[in-house]
Amino acid sequence: MNRTHIPGLVDIVTSEDATEIEAFAQDPNIDRAFADRSILTNGQILQRVLGILQIDGKPLPTVAPRSAPGRAEAQDALWNRLNALAPAYSTGPDELESLAAFVRGSGADDSCGILVQQVVGRLFAPEFQATEASWNAALLLDKAVHTLNPALSAWLDLTDQIDPAKQLLSNMVGGDLAAVHAIGFALHNIVSGVNLMRQIYGDSASRTALSPETAGTKCLFAPVNILRQPTAPVDSVSGVLETGTLLILGLQAANDNAPGANLAFLRGTWSQCPAEQWVPALLQGIWRRACNPQTQNQSIASPNDDASGAAG
Ligand code: HEM
Repeated sequence: MNRTHIPGLVDIVTSEDATEIEAFAQDPNIDRAFADRSILTNGQILQRVLGILQIDGKPLPTVAPRSAPGRAEAQDALWNRLNALAPAYSTGPDELESLAAFVRGSGADDSCGILVQQVVGRLFAPEFQATEASWNAALLLDKAVHTLNPALSAWLDLTDQIDPAKQLLSNMVGGDLAAVHAIGFALHNIVSGVNLMRQIYGDSASRTALSPETAGTKCLFAPVNILRQPTAPVDSVSGVLETGTLLILGLQAANDNAPGANLAFLRGTWSQCPAEQWVPALLQGIWRRACNPQTQNQSIASPNDDASGAAG
C-alpha cells in the first residue's frame, strides 16, 4: 500500500496487493459513496471520473454506493440471468464464430473490439448492432476515464465528445446503466483477453495443450482499477484512512501478481461482478470454437427468449 498525503491537498492510497484489496473490498466502512470531496486533488479526481461514469446524473453501477436503492437487486437479477446463459456460451455456439475466427488469425490485429461489443450488447438488446461509431465511443470512454494527462482531459471536455459517446451507447441499450457499463467500459477487459487468446493460439504447442478452461483463465483481465472511500475512519498500515481519503485499487496489477477469477471479479464481496460466470464461459466458448471450428452448430437464444431455453 502506498499513501500520498498532504493535508488538505491530497490523500490517496494505492494498492496492487491482492490481500489488501480483498480486505478493503470486504470492509463495511469502505464504500463507493464518495461523499467527502473536501480534499482538493481527491475532489478533482472524483469529479472528473464520476462525471464520466454517470448518465443524466445517475452513476453507472460500478460507482454506485453499496446501499443505493435497487443496486443490489439489479446486480442479483443480472447475475441470475447471465448465469443461466453461461453454459450455452461455453459450448462455443454460432454467435462466437467471428470471435473464434479472429483468434484463429483472421482480420487485423486490432479488429476484435467491435465483435466483442456485439456479443456483449446482444445480452441486453436483441437487435443490438455494434458499429464503428459505437466501438469508437467505447474506445473514447476508456481513454477518458483512464487518462492521467490533464491536457487530454481538457481537450475532451472542450470538444464535448464524452456525453455524445455515452448517449450513443445508452440509446443502443434502452438506457440500461449496467448495459452502458458493459458495452462502454467492461468490454475492454474482454477485448484484452481475446487479443491474448489470438497470440496464444498462434503458438501451435499452446494451442493443442490448453483446455478451454485453462485458456479462459489465462485470458482473464481484471479492471485496471477500482475506486473506494471510507465512510468512517479506518485503521491501516499507512495510518488512519479518513473519510476524504481516496483509494485507487489496482485490480489488474494485483491480478497479474496473483491471477485468479475470485479477485478479478471481486467474488464473494458485495460488489462482485454479475458477469463473473458468464465472462469465463464466453472466453472458454471462444477458445473451444477456435480449436474445433466444424463441430459447433448451435445458437444462443435471444435475450427476449426464456432463459431456461437459452441455457439448453
Ligand atoms: C473480463 C470482464 C469483466 C471483469 C473482469 C469484471 C469485473 C468486475 C469487477 C471487479 C466489478 C466490481 C467493481 C467495483 O466494485 O468497483 C464489476 C462490477 C460490475 N460488473 Fe463486471 N467485469 C467484467 C465484465 C462485465 C460484463 C460483460 C458485464 C455485463 C454484462 C459486467 C457488469 C458489471 C456490473 C453491472 C457491475 C456492478 C455491480 C455492482 O456493484 O452493483 N461486467 N465487474
